[in-house]
Amino acid sequence: MDTQRVPEVIQARVLVVDDDPILQAQLMHLLGKFVTEVRVAGNGADGLALWREWQPNVTLTDILMPVMDGLEMSLAIKAEDPDAQIVVITADRADANLRQALDIGVERYITKPVDVHLLLDAIRKCVRDRRHSDELHLARQVAELTQQLQRQLADKERAEAALQREKAEQQVLIQKLEEAHNQLLQSEKMASLGQLAAGVAHEINNPVGFVSSNLGTLRTYAERLLAVMAIYEKVIAALPADSVYRQMIEQARQAADVDYLKEDMLTLIRESAEGVTRVRQIVLDLKVFSHVDAVEWQATDLHRCIDSTLNLAAHAIKYKAEVVKDYGDIPDVECLPAQLNQVLLNLLVNAAQAIETQGTITIRTSADADEVRIAISDTGCGIAPEHLNRVFDPFFTTKPVGTGTGLGLSITYSIVRKHHGRIEVESEPGKGTTFRVILPIRQAPVAEAVAA
Ligand SMILES: Nc1ncnc2c1ncn2[C@@H]1O[C@H](COP(=O)(O)OP(=O)(O)OP(=O)(O)O)[C@@H](O)[C@H]1O
Ligand SMILES: [Mg+2]
Repeated sequence: MDTQRVPEVIQARVLVVDDDPILQAQLMHLLGKFVTEVRVAGNGADGLALWREWQPNVTLTDILMPVMDGLEMSLAIKAEDPDAQIVVITADRADANLRQALDIGVERYITKPVDVHLLLDAIRKCVRDRRHSDELHLARQVAELTQQLQRQLADKERAEAALQREKAEQQVLIQKLEEAHNQLLQSEKMASLGQLAAGVAHEINNPVGFVSSNLGTLRTYAERLLAVMAIYEKVIAALPADSVYRQMIEQARQAADVDYLKEDMLTLIRESAEGVTRVRQIVLDLKVFSHVDAVEWQATDLHRCIDSTLNLAAHAIKYKAEVVKDYGDIPDVECLPAQLNQVLLNLLVNAAQAIETQGTITIRTSADADEVRIAISDTGCGIAPEHLNRVFDPFFTTKPVGTGTGLGLSITYSIVRKHHGRIEVESEPGKGTTFRVILPIRQAPVAEAVAA
């Protein structure tokens, strides 16, 4: 064996498997100087056991050995680690066993007698190859892991997007629920108001009917009596001035102030009749307002709605504001009249409440080919800019506790939306506010079907 060149120490654990004690000793001695660690086994079976336990970087093996030969051991090792580095020591390059070993996948061979440089070269190449295959392995694993991570990331992103979508859907659902709740409150309020109105109308109609008819009869009677009195008066005038009867009657007439009575009696009857007519009108307005008999979409005269709502809200408005009507020429609008009356009532009452002492409420209507506009303006306190986009929120109110629920405008908003219309607000603090309701004249067929 040639040891002239002194190679540097190879970082490798080397397993030597050989049944020849002389060769074992030689290799131990040689390799001991040039690799990190060497261990020895005397046959294939011991070699395999040590390989499993110690996991050497390179296995150096003879072929022909007792118990288990080098081929069988190599086969077992390759089955467990296809990249395991094995160098076969062979006596003859043409050996049939060597060909078999190469077929199994054994990387290298060296021939006897062993040249130490060739041997170290083979070990070095084995270590390098192993490092390469390990690196390749690692790179593949990293790539796989990266892919896995990317897949997981994509999954996570998808899951997050789904969650976001679900959240948004839930939000929409919650909003719908709130609207439905408000509408329910509203319709309950409307229904009870409608029933109340219908009840009141019924109860009042009867007495008003007979008061009215009695007043008519009373006027006829009074007129007849006055006609008879006129004849009496003529007869009395025909009596001599000093007639005792004539003087008696004159005295009684003056005491009773008959001239005034005659005049005032008819006035009283006329005023009472007017009062009764007004009561009748209020009953009628109540009916129009509540529309107990009309819960369906119908072409409606909005001016009539405004007038009846104004009459009903008179107590809230008349001490505060002069009402100016600037009605344009507008067609009937397809709507739910009872609900639109609620819109008008909310806007008119808000306008009156915004006026502190005395002001004006102006109601303007106009139309184009498709839409009708109702603008309700007041000369009240106005709305602060920071409140302007909150007034339609449920429960937003600036009124003292117990005065406002803050639901008026949110209900108004949802009713207008149900009509596929819009509501706009313009306000100047200290000057006044205008709410503008814009409604389509006709509802689209689909919308009708949904609303019905
Ligand atoms: N014409 C207006 N002028 C000034 N502020 C108004 C006017 N209309 C509404 N607002 C403001 O918008 C808020 C909300 O009005 P909304 O009608 O919804 O509730 P509310 O009037 O306070 O109570 P509710 O109508 O339930 O009795 C009011 O509290 C008020 O601050
Ligand atoms: Mg209100």
